[in-house]
Amino acid sequence: MYAFKIKGENRLTGSVSVKGAKNAVLPIMAASLLTAEPLHLKNISFLSDVNTMNALLSSLGVCVQTNADELILTANHISSTKAAYDFVSKMRASFWVLGPLLARFQEATVSLPGGCAIGARPVDLYLMALTEMGADIRIENGYVIAKGPLHGAEIFFPKVSVGATHNTIMAAVLTAGTTIIHNPALEPEVMDLIAVLKKMGAQIEGVGTKKLIIRGVSKLSGATHSVIADRIETASFVIATAMTKGKIEINGGRQDLIGAVTDLLLPSQISFQQTDHSLIVDATNACLKSVPVITSEYPGFPTDAQALMTSFLSISTGDARVSEHIFENRFMHIPELQRMGAHIDIIDGHSVFIHGVPELSGATVMASDLRGGVGLVLAGLVAKGETLVKRIYHIDRGYYHLEEKLTQLGADIQRVHLDD
Ligand code: EPZ
Repeated sequence: MYAFKIKGENRLTGSVSVKGAKNAVLPIMAASLLTAEPLHLKNISFLSDVNTMNALLSSLGVCVQTNADELILTANHISSTKAAYDFVSKMRASFWVLGPLLARFQEATVSLPGGCAIGARPVDLYLMALTEMGADIRIENGYVIAKGPLHGAEIFFPKVSVGATHNTIMAAVLTAGTTIIHNPALEPEVMDLIAVLKKMGAQIEGVGTKKLIIRGVSKLSGATHSVIADRIETASFVIATAMTKGKIEINGGRQDLIGAVTDLLLPSQISFQQTDHSLIVDATNACLKSVPVITSEYPGFPTDAQALMTSFLSISTGDARVSEHIFENRFMHIPELQRMGAHIDIIDGHSVFIHGVPELSGATVMASDLRGGVGLVLAGLVAKGETLVKRIYHIDRGYYHLEEKLTQLGADIQRVHLDD
């Protein structure tokens, strides 16, 4: 078992690069199942969730080729339409092969993901949409068994779901007839999936609006695509720089994708400069100020940056409430932050109240999920003394060697092996 050992109080300076977004590349990889031709993806970070998706696609018969930061997926000899429990239980995005498999092969058997650390995370919206499109769906032995053929349909999502939007779009692009999706997710990662599908020949209108109109085609082709920058990795470096009062350049960073995060940092006298290829963050004159945080769908404040901002608020001047509106159980990092000296009242599963303190102190803490784990790393970067963040396999799911990138910026952080 590995952990991060961090000695705090170093300012971050220098430059770092962010690669393609985990949450964009995973659905795009699933989209490779929609065509027999190669899908050539660039700007890939081979973090552990990408490796899990590669393993799942291989188990279905997809030819997976990797080279530096590129990935070529060719689904010309699919040998199975069953996504096994081992993959889906490890990573919920594995469930997203359901739509493309069903659209192309008229059948799919995909393990139900079950709950996870951050909440119950049901799949009712996925199944509702596919049922509207004519799928015959039954649940047996923990698996969704779906059979086609599908047809176009008008779908109203009562709630915004990123995954259900991905899955329904992928099913609709290769299904005869017109599918209208009301209330789709508008996250940049959904836009990136749509951009790839259009390159593959999909006919999608209303992109970026609350009504998508998809005219199904009978065949899609291969495509080449450079995956959109990871906005949450960008936000992680931005907030780390703010907390350490440093100054860094994030190559590939895009402020337009994280406006809801940078807006909350402006009162702390942190400045941002967007160049053609990078985002420069200057917090050398920062005076961290508490601000309320309310997570919501894009373009609102992203739930995936909530734990990062919670660490920021722990050492800011003043009090602030953090309201989590997307998931019901995304405050598991709070008791660990409290052990580092943060003053936080947990009000209920949806909100906490943070009273900023002048400093945190290092402690041994445990990551319980991906973003919560990174929140603890950020706290460790500013804490007095040494912090040991355990269970960093959660962090490796979404960040490629985070410790190397932070070391490059001047942090004192090491990956250490623990016996327990
Ligand atoms: C995606 O998860 C992301 N995962 C999450 O990032 C992100 O937090 C989330 O979107 C919200 O932005 C990936 O892209 C791989 P949802 P997803 O369906 O698609 C409820 C990270 O840290 N819901 O938009 O699974 C659900 O319970 C991860 O990188 C239903 O009720 O999220 C939640 O409350 C974690 N029924 C809300 O919708 C359904 O059928 C939003 O979930 C589906 C979802």
